[in-house]
Amino acid sequence: MKLLDKLKNIEKTAMKEAVEAGSLDELEQFRIKYLGRKGVLSSAIKNMAHVAKKDKPKVGKFINELKQKITLLLDEKEKSFREEAKSLFEYDDTTLPGIVAELGHRHPLIRTMEDILDIFKKMSFKVVDSPEIETEFYNFEALNIPKNHPSRETFHTFYVEDGEFLLRSQTSTAQIRMMEKEKPPIQVVHAGKVYRPDAVDASHSFMFYQIEGFIVDEGIVFSDLKGVLEKFAREYFGQDVRMRFRPHYFPFTEPSAEVDISCFICGSKGCRVCSYKGWLEVLGAGMINPKVFEFVKYDSSKYTGFAFGMGVDRICMLKHGITDIRLFYENDVRFLKQF
Ligand code: PHE
Repeated sequence: MKLLDKLKNIEKTAMKEAVEAGSLDELEQFRIKYLGRKGVLSSAIKNMAHVAKKDKPKVGKFINELKQKITLLLDEKEKSFREEAKSLFEYDDTTLPGIVAELGHRHPLIRTMEDILDIFKKMSFKVVDSPEIETEFYNFEALNIPKNHPSRETFHTFYVEDGEFLLRSQTSTAQIRMMEKEKPPIQVVHAGKVYRPDAVDASHSFMFYQIEGFIVDEGIVFSDLKGVLEKFAREYFGQDVRMRFRPHYFPFTEPSAEVDISCFICGSKGCRVCSYKGWLEVLGAGMINPKVFEFVKYDSSKYTGFAFGMGVDRICMLKHGITDIRLFYENDVRFLKQF
């Protein structure tokens, strides 16, 4: 019965060591020591050969029971170690910095567009929609751009569907769409995309944004146009900004003007942005050509009106000192984050 006594001693130390094992690593050492291939219990089984035949069942039973006890103990301890580690991990440390969800914001062009529209809304202009895909009639004909005009060439405009439709090259199409739908008085602004097959560079893009505004009523005169645009320029660029109207030609307005504001960057002294002229061109405008009224069947002896159109991209670039229009369309967050 020497082996049985030995086994009882093994049981005692094993139980003690199991209680003492303080980590998963130590538990693993313990498992190898007792249950491993060359472990204590394996060698005890080998020693069974020297046990008297009549004692074999008793010793065998003892070894099996010991093995079960040790396995059970190991399992339980391992489970409690793992749970402890898990709860440590799950503990809410309120001093740790939180995970901040990054909030996006509107694109600088959309912001510029909305800021500009807000100013006109305050002056009682109504914001309207107008399609981007147009016919030649709305983009050219009704805007008094005749059939043989060079801007109608295929390489000046994006035609789609075998030339039946085109992507509008200016928001002035909204004038026709609105006047067809409603009778004067009309006082609206429209903002949206326009398309021109220009080679893309720092100041040109094949697609950009424009804002169109116009008023039609009885007795509208050029000074109304000046008043509205001056109010806009002061509100948007600053109270001391000055304006000048340079005579220009647009087929759908007569007289027409290109409108400059005094350079707010250098205070008109001359800088790189204004090409040392002291003035920045910001929009085109004029009195609506009576020929346009004919296309929409308005009585041009009764009604007059003015219209203006501005490039949102250009205004946004001027306002924020952005030197390359392509930045707006590259979707680079390092650029967008600055606004
Ligand atoms: N549509 C013109 C352009 O794209 C701008 C404009 C609008 C001029 C309204 C006069 C009146 O250049």
